[in-house]
Amino acid sequence: MSSDHDHSPSAVHRAVLLDEVVAWLAPRDGMIIVDGTAGAGGHTSALAAKVGPTGRVIGLDRDPEMLALAEKATSGLPVTLVHAAYSEMMDVLDDLEIDRVDGILLDLGLSSDQLHWASRGFSFASDGPLDMRFDPNGDTTAADLVNDLSADELADIIFQYGEERHSRRIARRIVEERRVVPITTTARLAEIVRKSIPGKWGAIDPATRTFQALRIKVNEEFEHLDSILADITELLNPGGRAAIISFHSLEDRRVKHSFRDNSELNVLTKKPVVAADAELAANPRARSAKLRVAERCLDTNGPPSHQNPANPNAR
Ligand SMILES: C[S@@+](CC[C@H](N)C(=O)[O-])C[C@H]1O[C@@H](n2cnc3c(N)ncnc32)[C@H](O)[C@@H]1O
Repeated sequence: MSSDHDHSPSAVHRAVLLDEVVAWLAPRDGMIIVDGTAGAGGHTSALAAKVGPTGRVIGLDRDPEMLALAEKATSGLPVTLVHAAYSEMMDVLDDLEIDRVDGILLDLGLSSDQLHWASRGFSFASDGPLDMRFDPNGDTTAADLVNDLSADELADIIFQYGEERHSRRIARRIVEERRVVPITTTARLAEIVRKSIPGKWGAIDPATRTFQALRIKVNEEFEHLDSILADITELLNPGGRAAIISFHSLEDRRVKHSFRDNSELNVLTKKPVVAADAELAANPRARSAKLRVAERCLDTNGPPSHQNPANPNAR
C-alpha cells in the first residue's frame, strides 16, 4: 500500500475555468476576495495577482496538505491562508476584522492532488486506507461509514449522493463482506462494489459513484454548501460577486436554485459557464465543471439593471 511518500512536492491539480473565473470576478486594485476552496492555489494566485498592494485574497481550505501547496503557489502575493471550512467564512472574516468582501469563489469537490495521494483514501486507482476526510481532524472516515452503518443507511447514501441505481445491492454486499473482516482499504471496497454490479462495466469504473457518495457524506459537502449559500448576501458588499464551480448535478442544482431564489442577488450567468474546447482537451477534469455567478444587488430594495453576461468585467 502506498503512503505519504507518494506526495509530490508540487501540485498536479490544474485550476479549471481559470480565465472565466478571473473575468467574472473582475478583480482589481484594493479588492478583497475570498477563495473558499484554495486547494493548490491556482485560482487564489491568479486573483491575488490582480488585487494590487492594497487588496487581498483570503484562501481557505479544510485540508492542511492543500494549504501547504497553496502557500508555495501564492508566495509573494497578497494572500492570507487559513485552515477553515468555507462554511466558517463569516467567523474567519470577523477574526481578520473584515466586514464584507468584493468576491467569493468556491471550486467544489476534491483536487487532483488529493485524489493522487493514496494515503488519503479518495482513490480506488491505488490502494490506501479508506479515509476520504478533507480535514484529517474530522470525526468520521469512509471506513467508519462502511463498517458501522446499516445496509439501508448505506444504500440511501450511495443512491442519493452517488445516483447509483444498484445502491441496495452494493450496500447488501458491503454488509455481508464486513461480517467476515472489516473493510479498511480502498482496493477492497472497490472490489466489493465491482462484484455487486451485474453485467459488464461501461467506460466508468462501477466503484466511481459509490466512492463519490461516501466522500460527499464523510465531508458533509452539501451541508457546507447550503450553509454558505444561506450566508452569501451577508458576506458580500453590494456589487460583490459569488462564483461557484460545481462538478456534481446535485451541487449545481443547489447553487442555481439558491442564487435564483435570493431576492438580493442578481444572477449574472443565465446558463452555467462551461469549459472551452481547448481547456477540455488539456484537462479532462474540466468536462463536468459548471460555473455560476451572482452579484449582490447595489440597491437591496430591488434588483439592479440587468447585467450583460457578454461583458462580465463591466461593474
Ligand atoms: C477542486 S479543489 C480546489 C482547487 C483550487 N481552486 C486550485 O486552483 O487549486 C477543492 C478544494 O476544496 C477543499 N474543500 C472541500 N470542501 C471544503 C470546505 N467545506 N471548506 C474549505 N475547503 C474545502 C478541498 O480540500 C480541496 O482542496
